[in-house]
Amino acid sequence: MNRFEGKIALVTGAASGIGRATALRLAQEGADVACVDVSDKVADTAAEVEKLGRAASAHVCDISDEAGVAAMVAAVIARFGKLDVAANVAGVLRADHTHQLAMEHWDRILRINLTGTFLVCRAVIPHLLATKGCIVNTSSTAALGSHPWMAAYAASKGGIIALTKTIAVEYVKQGLRANCVCPGGVATPLHGQFRMPKGSDPELLRGAMPLVPYVGPEHAASVIAFLASDDAKYITGTEVRADGGALS
Ligand SMILES: NC(=O)c1ccc[n+]([C@@H]2O[C@H](COP(=O)([O-])OP(=O)(O)OC[C@H]3O[C@@H](n4cnc5c(N)ncnc54)[C@H](O)[C@@H]3O)[C@@H](O)[C@H]2O)c1
Repeated sequence: MNRFEGKIALVTGAASGIGRATALRLAQEGADVACVDVSDKVADTAAEVEKLGRAASAHVCDISDEAGVAAMVAAVIARFGKLDVAANVAGVLRADHTHQLAMEHWDRILRINLTGTFLVCRAVIPHLLATKGCIVNTSSTAALGSHPWMAAYAASKGGIIALTKTIAVEYVKQGLRANCVCPGGVATPLHGQFRMPKGSDPELLRGAMPLVPYVGPEHAASVIAFLASDDAKYITGTEVRADGGALS
């Protein structure tokens, strides 16, 4: 498939996991890709995109930094001249008992996952309106239920769904689409590093578990690519669960 031939995509969280897999999937389908991450390993992903024969740029940027996001998007436009797809994948996870959740952790998770996604959306919308492009945001099954000890994470991901629906309706008549993917149980560093808080009951997390073995990040990336493509031309303002049946 060459669904992104001639398109420019911006992918956050591109240094690792689902973001990296998304950058590579979009490039495999013809996109030139601006790879964005707070980690300088994002340069490795950009190099992999180039190996696929596509143009790439690497941007070390903290998506929760307002000025940094504005400068990053300006640099992407200066490099490529336009933007067709913005995939907001960057995010962080940590688990705590809600009654012990420190403000610093609540603030950090909301600031990166929700405010960061908003800041990138705000900065890219004018450019996506020019191309009738689209946004794919990354929520989580945590936004939909069955995730104990993830008050901040679940709230941030629920906020992303609400933000996405608002954008979808607000700009629908101008040709801009916005959707969410809600992954669950994808084998990535974020998932591998997840630890339940001390004294937690693993039984309570059972409802969040995929009903089939965990999959790799390329499976979430393929859903993002679908939502970003013209195959999803009539789809806006919705969320697609990719969770191996966990919440089914
Ligand atoms: N893995 C799963 O099972 C799963 C399930 C549901 C949702 N998600 C979501 O998918 C997204 C990607 O997660 P992943 O599993 O690939 O994790 P990952 O840790 O492999 O990748 C996350 C990337 O985000 C980057 N990042 C973190 N904070 C950032 C910031 N402030 N600015 C810019 N980049 C930042 C990290 O450096 C990292 O490269 C996240 O939003 C996560 O919440 C993952």
